[in-house]
Formats: sequence, C-alpha cells, structure tokens
Amino acid sequence: MSLKISLASDHGGLLLKREILRSLQARGYELADRGCYTEESVDYPDYAGVVCSDVVSGRAERGILVCGTGIGMTIAANKHAGIRAALCHDTFSARTTREHNDSNVLCLGQRVIGTGLALDVVDMWLAGVFAGGRHQARIDKLTRIESTIKSNC
Ligand code: RB5
Repeated sequence: MSLKISLASDHGGLLLKREILRSLQARGYELADRGCYTEESVDYPDYAGVVCSDVVSGRAERGILVCGTGIGMTIAANKHAGIRAALCHDTFSARTTREHNDSNVLCLGQRVIGTGLALDVVDMWLAGVFAGGRHQARIDKLTRIESTIKSNC
C-alpha cells in the first residue's frame, strides 16, 4: 500500500486519530502524524492547515482530520485552495464523496462517532475511486471559483 496520508487532530479528536493511525499502520500505509500529541487545548485551524499544505504540495496524497465534531476541521480545510474536505460519519457518504467529489481530505468527529464505525468510514473512503465524467466538470467549476476568489484579492 503506497498511499501517503497526512493526519492531524486537535485535542477533541486525539484519541480517535490515534486509533486511525494504529489501524492504518497495521496495514502498511505510509503515514505522517502532524499532531496534536497531547490533550492540551489547541486550535483546529492550525492542524488543518498543516495537513492541507501536505496535500496541496503533494507531500501526501490524502489527509485525515479529526476534531470533536469534525465540523471545525471541515470548515478550516475547505478554506484552502485545492482541498475538497468531506465530513463523513457513515460509509455511504465516505464512498460517494470519493466517487463524486474526489475529496482529498476526510474529516471525522470523535465526539460524534464510535471507533468501529469511524475505522470503517476511513477504509471505505480510502478505497473509493473518483468516477470522473460529469463529476469532473463540477470539480472544475469549484476550481474556477477558487481562481476567481484569488484574483479578486
Ligand atoms: C474543541 O473543544 C472543539 O470545539 C473542536 O474539537 C471541534 O469540535 C470544533 O469544531
């Protein structure tokens, strides 16, 4: 398995991030744990930023972000050009967001979902394949929106 995945959490997602790391490590994924490493209170946008920079630069092919609800991480990640972050707490969404949105970052909420289901969501998301076609045209529209915002700044 050669997929390189960058992972991070804030304090509210630390325990679930550790479970995800353990599960993926056992199956030979190449992983970068970008923090946090303790339960000390930290700010989720900082950790989302590091993972998104790994993905946008190509240092990682995918990113996984965990906070208490998953919502803060999703909002923060989607501020970064080139990132399509999806909050998924069920396997249908995890598969479909890969097929339709080519999401490159998965967000989860430790306070929302149990570990067993979260690990299944991660596996489904990693296995999902982008379907292209009409979905690519929609992603191209998103990319154009990003360029318009940039040129208006
Ligand atoms: C931290 O208490 C919490 O606000 C954070 O983990 C996340 O849920 C934010 O969306």
